[in-house]
Amino acid sequence: MIYASFKSIGAYIPTEVRSNQWFIDRMDTNDEWITKRTGIKERRIASSEEETSDLGAKAAKIAMNRAGISSADIDLIICATISPDYMCMPSTACLIAEKLDRRDVMALDISAACTGFIYALSVAKAFIESGMKKNVLIIGAEKLSNIVDYTDRTTCMLFGDGAGAAIISATQNKDEAIVDIQCSADGSQKDLLLTPSVQSSEASFMQMKGNETFKIAVRTLTSDVQKIMEKNSYKNEDIDLFIPHQANYRIIKAVGDALKFEDKQKVLTVEKYGNTSSASIPMAINECFEDGRLVKGKTMLLDAFGGGLTWGSAIIKFNG
Ligand code: ACO
Repeated sequence: MIYASFKSIGAYIPTEVRSNQWFIDRMDTNDEWITKRTGIKERRIASSEEETSDLGAKAAKIAMNRAGISSADIDLIICATISPDYMCMPSTACLIAEKLDRRDVMALDISAACTGFIYALSVAKAFIESGMKKNVLIIGAEKLSNIVDYTDRTTCMLFGDGAGAAIISATQNKDEAIVDIQCSADGSQKDLLLTPSVQSSEASFMQMKGNETFKIAVRTLTSDVQKIMEKNSYKNEDIDLFIPHQANYRIIKAVGDALKFEDKQKVLTVEKYGNTSSASIPMAINECFEDGRLVKGKTMLLDAFGGGLTWGSAIIKFNG
């Protein structure tokens, strides 16, 4: 029997820090509103020379290095993004393949908004368990500053740029395997979060009905975790790190409280990076790896919700 294991993590955090003051200087808002309503203090912004594929390739190189493999060992590249370098083609995964010096590898993008990394993980797991691929590079990369409307004070201060990547590899040891992943979508609620046009115009900016989305996010994230935990007979004490999508501190707090996770289990990065959509979960995993909270054998619970609507969760044993 072949299983999929989570071998390594990497992230690339752009250097430019954009604090709440940047928004206060340009629009009718204030630090108290942003901090109280979102928990965000800063976000990172990619430079004009960096596109989404550059962020993704940099994160990928770190993940490959930590897994002890080279790009020649990768047989599938999946990039989750809603801010691709090009609107329809080529895919960002193709551009990342080129930046990793691969000219003959299967590469594809996934569009599932903030749930993109969990969707990518699910596809990687299926390819590995079917025996079709051995080492899959999955990436969540976003240059959301390209699609944020900086005249809309209700959304623009929420989002930032960044990338995270992971290597998912085949193993025959069940103890090293990803435990379970579940992914869902409901297109009937498409109007809550969308980029209306693919043309280069202001209609290509992201629009969000924040308050409605907030309530559905809390409900859905909570029930999705309850479902995956019950299905796998997991209890809270079996989880070392609860790593939800980082959209808003109040959402994470409400979900964490409803699920009764302790503070030491909850991972929070939204204060520093804002919402980086598909990159937020791998960037948070990377932070736990770099500060020593995530070591081989630890169990992570991932939980995400985003435009589509899409949502998903995963229980993962780290095998790095
Ligand atoms: N500064 C000051 N006041 C503001 C600002 C601002 N930047 N923006 C809005 N306000 C005002 C509004 O005009 C409103 O004023 P009113 O009461 O006089 O009408 C008031 O603040 C409250 O506005 P709400 O929209 O009700 O605020 P809310 O508490 O819902 O917070 C927020 C807004 C932060 C956007 C929140 O709704 C949210 O985080 N939503 C969910 C985001 C999410 O989870 N998205 C999914 C993932 S993202 C993806 O998939 C790409």
